[in-house]
Amino acid sequence: MRVLGIETSCDETGIAIFDTEQGLMSHIVYSQIALHADYGGVVPELASRDHIRKTLPLIKQALTEAGCTAESIDGVAYTAGPGLAGALLVGAAIGRSLAFAWDKPALAVHHMEGHLLAPMLEQHAPQFPFLALLVSGGHTQLVRVDGIGRYQLLGESIDDAAGEAFDKTAKLMGLEYPGGPLLAKLAASGDAKKYAFPRPMTDRPGLDFSFSGLKTAAANVIAAEGKTPQVQADIAASFQQAVVDTLVLKCRRALKETGLKSLVVAGGVSANESLRMQLADLMKSLKGQVFYPGKEFCTDNGAMIAYAGWQRLRAGQAQDLSIGVTPRWPM
Ligand code: KG4
Ligand code: ZN
Repeated sequence: MRVLGIETSCDETGIAIFDTEQGLMSHIVYSQIALHADYGGVVPELASRDHIRKTLPLIKQALTEAGCTAESIDGVAYTAGPGLAGALLVGAAIGRSLAFAWDKPALAVHHMEGHLLAPMLEQHAPQFPFLALLVSGGHTQLVRVDGIGRYQLLGESIDDAAGEAFDKTAKLMGLEYPGGPLLAKLAASGDAKKYAFPRPMTDRPGLDFSFSGLKTAAANVIAAEGKTPQVQADIAASFQQAVVDTLVLKCRRALKETGLKSLVVAGGVSANESLRMQLADLMKSLKGQVFYPGKEFCTDNGAMIAYAGWQRLRAGQAQDLSIGVTPRWPM
């Protein structure tokens, strides 16, 4: 069984082919970062137009790299939400049209399900059940996963997502978009104890998050202390530590409440080294295991959509041919 995956929910065009026997046969990610850099964030209309330009040529390239024909594809999976409506519609329209032309099933995939299952593309893959921490530019969620399609949301951010907080704070510091990875790099040479940023919502029960106050706290420090390189590094390190401490504390709490021993961490922020180190310490102390997607599958990509679609197709699920997306779609 062979599935073509199409991801166009935000500013990456991701195309991949996943096969039961051969695993991931090809995977291409085209990033629009340069296109949006001057605007300091993703411009939805520009994103849609670029997806339209790139999607079909990249599908052709993926088929060539995989050495397979269009006839050998058994299903077409695309991200149907959540994400930018116009951007999602490009992937949905192309995905369903190809499925129609090839007379194969179309599979509407939830973007966060893609992130959640991405670690299963690795050799060292998690077994069900596990706890998933999803940390991206749009979401911060703790999910109990008992099997494919069996997801229970345990907690989520009530305002900004963790990646969004990284990006907004980085922007305040004058770093280029998307600033998350740049801020993390700066943090490596800073003093994480220099500034006492809040650890929001950790002093009360529950598994929800809040990150918007952290950005305001960072803005106040930047206004008071200026932007010398050492101040920048210290703010970055102190900010990162506050986010990481908060995420680690909520993971510990969720693992304790559920009794689960396996933790999956996915989404763009899961690439953060400081978060990885502290979660490794946590899981060691709990005698559990932590699983990540490969580095290239932490951020948006087509492989996770092809894989989630393959799982759905295996389970006999497919959609009709009316083209629709769900920009706001709870898991
Ligand atoms: O999953 P993703 O590619 O897209 C969404 O679905 O949102 O996540 C992108 C987010 C951005 O906010 C980016 O700044 C953040 O992940 N990110 C990081 C790091 N690498 C990417 N944040 C902190 N540290 C990193 N190393
Ligand atoms: Zn994502």
